[in-house]
Amino acid sequence: MTSALDSLKEKNLQALAGGGPERIARQHESGKLTARERIEGLLDPGTFLELDRFVTSRTEHFGMRDKKVLGDGVVTGSGQIDGRNVFVFAQDFTVFGGSLAEAHANKIVKVMDLALQSGTPIIGLNDSGGARIQEGVQSLGGYAEIFWRNVQASGVVPQISLIMGPCAGGAVYSPAITDFVIMVDGKSHMFITGPEVIKAVTKEDVSKEVLGGAVTHASTSGVAHLVSQSDAEALSLCRRLLSYLPLNNLAEPPIVSTFDLPTRSEERLRTLVPEQPNQPYDIRELILAVIDDAQFMEIHPLYAQNIIVGFARLAGQSVGVVANQPKVLAGCLDINASVKAARFVRFCDAFNIPLVTFVDVPGFLPGTDQEHGGIIRHGAKLLYAYAEASVPKVTVITRKAYGGAYDVMSSKHIRGDMNFAFPTAEIAVMGPEGAVNIIFRKELEEAKNPVELRQSLIAEYRGTFSNPWHAAGLGYIDAVIDPAETRPHLIRALSLLRSKRQQTPRRKHGNIPL
Ligand code: HXC
Repeated sequence: MTSALDSLKEKNLQALAGGGPERIARQHESGKLTARERIEGLLDPGTFLELDRFVTSRTEHFGMRDKKVLGDGVVTGSGQIDGRNVFVFAQDFTVFGGSLAEAHANKIVKVMDLALQSGTPIIGLNDSGGARIQEGVQSLGGYAEIFWRNVQASGVVPQISLIMGPCAGGAVYSPAITDFVIMVDGKSHMFITGPEVIKAVTKEDVSKEVLGGAVTHASTSGVAHLVSQSDAEALSLCRRLLSYLPLNNLAEPPIVSTFDLPTRSEERLRTLVPEQPNQPYDIRELILAVIDDAQFMEIHPLYAQNIIVGFARLAGQSVGVVANQPKVLAGCLDINASVKAARFVRFCDAFNIPLVTFVDVPGFLPGTDQEHGGIIRHGAKLLYAYAEASVPKVTVITRKAYGGAYDVMSSKHIRGDMNFAFPTAEIAVMGPEGAVNIIFRKELEEAKNPVELRQSLIAEYRGTFSNPWHAAGLGYIDAVIDPAETRPHLIRALSLLRSKRQQTPRRKHGNIPL
């Protein structure tokens, strides 16, 4: 027995050594933690149960027969975050550059299968040189096996990817399918083709940071949802994100107790919306004022800032918040905002997270760029996502809800469950100036004093349409509320809707305009 235990001890030491002290030192020098340190930082202390520690590559090409490393460059297993189970894999850059080969892929596939069978979230810590060159097609096959499982798990268990080093070529498609991508600033890069290939093909000179660094993906491409300044911060963002999510699509998100009273009113909200309809304000102030303890986890904060999405809690219950941001592009919906919000709405819907929508939207952004870029099909994604969502949907119109954007932003007509409006709401086909120019064009052309006439027509239009009363009179708005009472109204509505059940037609799947 002693010798058996000794051999286990020796094997364990070998496995824990990863790519050896020199490569581990290099990893540390470059400001990165090792795979095992990352797992330790992610999970509750002492909860990691490692699987497949002794798996090695079966490849013999290119001298690989003599280069086998226990674990094959990825550490996999399960553990707990805030006492809840998760499955995790962490690529070990110190072993063959974390490159993915058959055995490495099989280990990831195993935890993905276990996660799917048990309804447990999957967290992937990516730090890899991509497909292991020595293994060729087995590496490619391994990636495809992972992609297939990413798709099977989509909408069943939350999938979170942390990019903590290189992630290039086809390898990017696993994180891309997962629900959230967190990148470490300055340490992580994602691209299909790297700077050298780009230079050779197009002669373009671009650094890997500009091409596929964290800030680029968080602000320009929208591939990354969150950016951290260090490995440790990325791990803590992941833990925080998970706290809002259920373990799977059949479970409810955890309830977190709070001392923030559900009846709390906020008088300052009475003056948040400026008197001047074109004066911007920060919708974040409203969000922070109404949610529990002002704790908002914004998702995609640097991307399409004309719409805000993120997680919060109301009376301890997780909610997904979507809000037009009048401070940026006057809160117009454009291509990126539509896609950003649509994906978020669909995530919340898949995982039983009610949606709270704050509306102040003058319409879709006009322009050739937008039209030619496909605002029609991209805007349709948001409309589709809201219409399809069967979780409780509560909407508050604070000011403008014009045109098609009124319909899209969780209106009653696409089955918003409770739709409130502030007294400052303006619900109309378009703003007064545009409307008057169109419907009274002739009268204005013929008028002796067109300026005066325009002003009086605008005032008349405002009195008729630019208020919530017409919509409220038709039942399109369930209640016009005192802005100070927004929090109690939202909490009451969500509590009523908690038992909401909605039948959807039987079908294989819908055909969202991709
Ligand atoms: C095998 C690899 C490897 C790979 C790195 N290594 N990438 N081994 N297959 N793909 C090994 C190196 O040989 C080295 O081994 C160790 O990892 C560390 O690599 P370095 O180059 O020393 O590190 P660094 O300077 O930090 O550069 C990291 C890197 C670079 C940028 C990732 O290694 C690189 O460009 N690698 C190739 C990337 C690539 O083109 N991959 C294929 C992408 S296409 P030693 O023994 O010296 O420590 C792809 C297709 C996926 O992945 C398709 C899915 C459908």
